[in-house]
Amino acid sequence: MIKDKKIVIGVTGGIAAYKAAELVRILVKGGASVRVAMTSNAVKFVAPLTFETLSGNRVVWDMFDPFTEPIGHITWGQEADLLIIAPATSNFIAKMAHGTADDFLTSMVLASTAKILVCPAMNTQMYKNAATQENIRLISGRGCFVMKPGEGELACHTEGPGRLPEPEEIAELAGNLLTEKDLDGLKVVVTAGPTQEPVDPVRYITNRSSGKMGYAIARAATARGAAVKLISGPVALKPPAGIDFHQVKTAEEMRKAALAEAGQADVIIKAAAVSDYRPGETALQKIKKDEGSFTLNMIKNPDILAELGALKKNDGFILVGFAAETESLTANAEEKLRKKNLDMIVANDVSREDSGFDAENNKVQIIYRDGKVEDLPLMPKESLADQLLDRIMVLRKK
Ligand SMILES: Cc1cc2nc3c(=O)[nH]c(=O)nc-3n(C[C@H](O)[C@H](O)[C@H](O)COP(=O)(O)O)c2cc1C
Repeated sequence: MIKDKKIVIGVTGGIAAYKAAELVRILVKGGASVRVAMTSNAVKFVAPLTFETLSGNRVVWDMFDPFTEPIGHITWGQEADLLIIAPATSNFIAKMAHGTADDFLTSMVLASTAKILVCPAMNTQMYKNAATQENIRLISGRGCFVMKPGEGELACHTEGPGRLPEPEEIAELAGNLLTEKDLDGLKVVVTAGPTQEPVDPVRYITNRSSGKMGYAIARAATARGAAVKLISGPVALKPPAGIDFHQVKTAEEMRKAALAEAGQADVIIKAAAVSDYRPGETALQKIKKDEGSFTLNMIKNPDILAELGALKKNDGFILVGFAAETESLTANAEEKLRKKNLDMIVANDVSREDSGFDAENNKVQIIYRDGKVEDLPLMPKESLADQLLDRIMVLRKK
């Protein structure tokens, strides 16, 4: 969680310095207090004014400027929860490896007591050079987190490793580094998104699930230290970094993938909207338009949640379901919890415009085995993910 954390971003003189502006914006939006320090070479790539405007704080790049706090190079790194060097040039990494302190940023890094995340970005040969690799090894060995650069076309028109990862990925890793690891050692399986049930080679039956809730849970559990497997139907979201990702399309594929995990999981959260029915037959060729009406025979899909519930033993394993309802929310969800032998069910009214399917927020009711019903207020899916994990941890301790 980056909310209310103090983060210093160190920007060094690489072409990817412009991406640091977006990183600042994302972190500030996430509720962090952000300060930016630059090297004097970084200032040649992006003007400090950009970072001052986005962070709302003065940017420092000259240790001896009369306006720079006299001992800012010591206090900044000691007051912060996290330093992020993005982009980190080969030169800056070399300086870090050898304890050089010849400007504000290098001095601050050396005096810092915060966690340090270094995001190298450079030409592929510079990155692969034995000196750079040795320097990365040295700083990693001293406890810095060094992010692997992305691969692809670089600004110098070559291809290979050296790209600065996208600002969203850096922000996500920063959040993970700042989150308490209370799910450490747990294996959490999450299912997300809709399923697609094929009618013919070009058509399928699906639903409006966006996968956002399940992906938020997978991200939150990863940040809190769990080993996460995300089994996802087709969605427009990028799989979160650092998780074991399994892409499926149909309910049958999702069933196989989920049952394969049942023996090893400590927690299974079924946030996917699995199609209850599928076409009885999938036409091998595209179905042609005809004069009359067209009837599609639908057969029942397997009930994955019920199968998982039937496998449940009294060994601390927690099974959580979701109920998307448009009427009689509590009663329908309670029945589902009982029938499927769940520990907890998260019921959401998907007829609301402001929550549920494809929305950024969710308003849910949580129903427990002992009949307790808890109403949660409308909140972002990211926050709800953490709230659900908090409650799952309480259930595990019972
Ligand atoms: C146009 C241009 C782009 C550069 N891009 C990078 C880069 O992406 N990564 C890198 O390590 N060095 C890059 N350099 C070289 C650095 O600017 C140079 O090593 C400088 O000394 C780094 O200073 P600093 O680490 O104090 O910011 C680039 C230089 C120029 C002129």
